Amino acid sequence: MDLSLPEWVADWARDVPRLVIPPPGPASKAIIEKDREFVSHAYDRLFQFTMKRSSGAAIMDADGNAYLDFSAGISVMNAGWSNPRVVEAIREQAGDLVHSLANDAYFDKEAEFAELLAKISPGGALTNTFFGNSGAEGVEAAIKLSRYYSKSGEHIAFMGAYHGRIGNALALASRVKYKFGHGPYTPGVHFAPYPYCYRCWFKQEYPSCGMACMDYLENGILEYGGPSGAVASIFVEPLQGEGGYIVPPPEFMPRLRRLCDQKKILLVADEIQSGLGRTGELWECDSTSTIPDILITGKALGGGIPLGGIIARKEIMGVWRPGSHSSTFGGNGISMAAGLAHVREIIEQDLPTRAKILGAHALKRLNEMKDKYEIIGDVRGKGLMIGVEMVKSKSTKEPMLVPRMQGQVWRKGLMMITAGMYGNVFRIAPPIIISDEQLDLGLDIFESTVQETQKELV
Ligand SMILES: Cc1ncc(COP(=O)(O)O)c(C=O)c1O
Repeated sequence: MDLSLPEWVADWARDVPRLVIPPPGPASKAIIEKDREFVSHAYDRLFQFTMKRSSGAAIMDADGNAYLDFSAGISVMNAGWSNPRVVEAIREQAGDLVHSLANDAYFDKEAEFAELLAKISPGGALTNTFFGNSGAEGVEAAIKLSRYYSKSGEHIAFMGAYHGRIGNALALASRVKYKFGHGPYTPGVHFAPYPYCYRCWFKQEYPSCGMACMDYLENGILEYGGPSGAVASIFVEPLQGEGGYIVPPPEFMPRLRRLCDQKKILLVADEIQSGLGRTGELWECDSTSTIPDILITGKALGGGIPLGGIIARKEIMGVWRPGSHSSTFGGNGISMAAGLAHVREIIEQDLPTRAKILGAHALKRLNEMKDKYEIIGDVRGKGLMIGVEMVKSKSTKEPMLVPRMQGQVWRKGLMMITAGMYGNVFRIAPPIIISDEQLDLGLDIFESTVQETQKELV
């Protein structure tokens, strides 16, 4: 496979990073000042610059600094920033029809997109889609549908899980940080340990543990942890994202599937972050041939336009009657056109295979770094969804505080975001069209900063 940048990537976005002024420059600063005055401070705002333009795996700020992007806009721009196929689809659709009135009328691209998603769903078994406007809205729809279908109102979620910041989706989040100051949340959510083998909740080693965490779910939580015996659904990220890019052992998802079948619980896979090529598969569920009952998608689904949804087995989606669920902007003209173009591009350019090849190379290099540097505790991932967990020392695994290091990486022109229960996991999740050269360059920048940080700590 040709791993160079696609031809359409703009000239300025090829030779990056290229900083013309230490960020934030004056143009960025002026906008940041206004933003601080008038926009809610709820967003984290890690990078102190103003977004101006984008192309491929690069972003330019208002002062002309061009950065290399290892985040894909939080796993959104899988086929690259400003992919011309997506841009053209948006332009064309905008001239024809923007608001498609999904509540009250039919729209060709909505039906077309749902047909495509049915075709590419795990095992081709999930054949019906509901479109909303974000990942969290997809999670809300999945909760509602699983309750409606099973006529029960309890759920299992996992420690370290992240499913969004509103309502029921927030009830499924396990971390205090996300919930602080807003409780209490929807009752009936029980939390099980995710197989975070690097920091095993039971202080055991895989595989000799026999997956004690799953035993705990099956024989502990479901029997003695407080559920009423009528659990509607288990919500799981097949590769946990915000929790720290945690890859569970391969038997995890199949074992969950078996458990759900035995107990008549619906298995809901949240593929909002892991889906659409990111992990080297179209869906991460495909890597273990696990077919969930409901799959939640978002982020990359809209190619940068707000879009989320659920894809479910026909008999499950079929229980909803007209009016059971709805959204004014669901199936919107622009989001359908952009999403169709983006997902077709992911499939036709075989981006899952590209993610697999580039990811294997990145994992090899990062594991070599792990052997070399005391402060890299763990390297894990699949495709281009890779986490590097930073620690103060390998033996204690004490989490390292990484905001300073993140700032240093950024000032060298590389955008990296973090994840993890301690916020100490660097994510390597660039647009999948990134070239092999750009990937290596980014890894060089990362390594040089690891080296400097380790020296400072010593
Ligand atoms: C696994 C997962 N689920 C749900 C969400 C929420 O999606 P959104 O921010 O579009 O509501 C995210 C966002 O990071 C996510 O990673």
